[in-house]
Amino acid sequence: MKQLYQEFLDFYRNQLLLGFFKKRGKSLVVPQVLFCIERLMEQYPKKEVIRVLDLGCGEAHLLQILHQATSIFGTDKKVELYGFDNDEEMLQAARSRNNVRAEYVKFDIRHDDFSRYDGYFDVIVSVNTLHEVFSSYLGEGNKKFPVGKVEYAREQICSIITKIAKMLTEDGSLVLYDGLLPPRELMQERIKFKIINPILLHYFKQMTGEFTLWPISYKLTKDVVEMSYQDFCWFVTTFKYLNTKLWHFENQQVYQYMSEREINECFAEAGLRRESFMHVSNDLGLWQNNVEIVGKKFSYPVKSYLLVGSKHYIPSRYDYFGAS
Ligand SMILES: C[S@@+](CC[C@H](N)C(=O)[O-])C[C@H]1O[C@@H](n2cnc3c(N)ncnc32)[C@H](O)[C@@H]1O
Repeated sequence: MKQLYQEFLDFYRNQLLLGFFKKRGKSLVVPQVLFCIERLMEQYPKKEVIRVLDLGCGEAHLLQILHQATSIFGTDKKVELYGFDNDEEMLQAARSRNNVRAEYVKFDIRHDDFSRYDGYFDVIVSVNTLHEVFSSYLGEGNKKFPVGKVEYAREQICSIITKIAKMLTEDGSLVLYDGLLPPRELMQERIKFKIINPILLHYFKQMTGEFTLWPISYKLTKDVVEMSYQDFCWFVTTFKYLNTKLWHFENQQVYQYMSEREINECFAEAGLRRESFMHVSNDLGLWQNNVEIVGKKFSYPVKSYLLVGSKHYIPSRYDYFGAS
């Protein structure tokens, strides 16, 4: 049993690490964080230390990359790295495996007190973490599609973003990368799609039956499925995990949880000025090779977003124009 668990952890960690080296996807986070650090150094050369927190750091792969990059730039002496996560196993691995001088803290985003860090960090980054927190609010004993819980979970995430923003210094920036929900008005509409890959067709029933957050209903005629766009989005973002070691974890998760409008509203409420919002669709090829949308009304969803928000406008040498 212990060995199985160990194998699962190794598999999970490798998946998390690989993502930072892929052409698109969360690797795009690295230049954004480096940019935030660099411009603070330029604008405030007297600032003695720049504190960077990875919230939900896992095994701290991102911190390792940031550590290496700042060493190359020669700016590492000024940068203090912090990694917070609620999983002690992950933190242990981060401490023992990575050769990174960072402070690792066991911290639960849902329950712990953020206020002791108010005004402390210059840059906070959080990658693929808030959807896990969101899913944990949804997963508490629901039987039907938890409409009320979705609203509740969204409010919780918004209030978490406000608490995160308070942890920033007055020149601080927040870099968020996570799943992007298409506009909510589309979600209950019906979509038809053809499952091209016969293996996926074979496993479709298993997959939809084993999802734990709400019941998935669909109509299957030969290889054409009709279901809500909400369930389609869940299906395309999730099928790659089916029959992998991550499946029993991923079947309790929903990756896309807030639309661009909703995230923007949360940032505004938290007092963060949106600097850039990037749509990232790194699995599009996989979806197109496996499922074909029937009819023109719908498209494959954008998978993730990368959002940078700051407390105020901080100029940098890359700006061609002044503040808007
Ligand atoms: C999908 S992993 C992403 C890890 C890392 N950021 C990356 O991109 O490789 C999500 C991380 O969020 C952490 N996490 C989930 N719920 C959390 C919570 N309530 N408080 C703190 N961390 C949490 C998990 O332990 C896990 O390390």
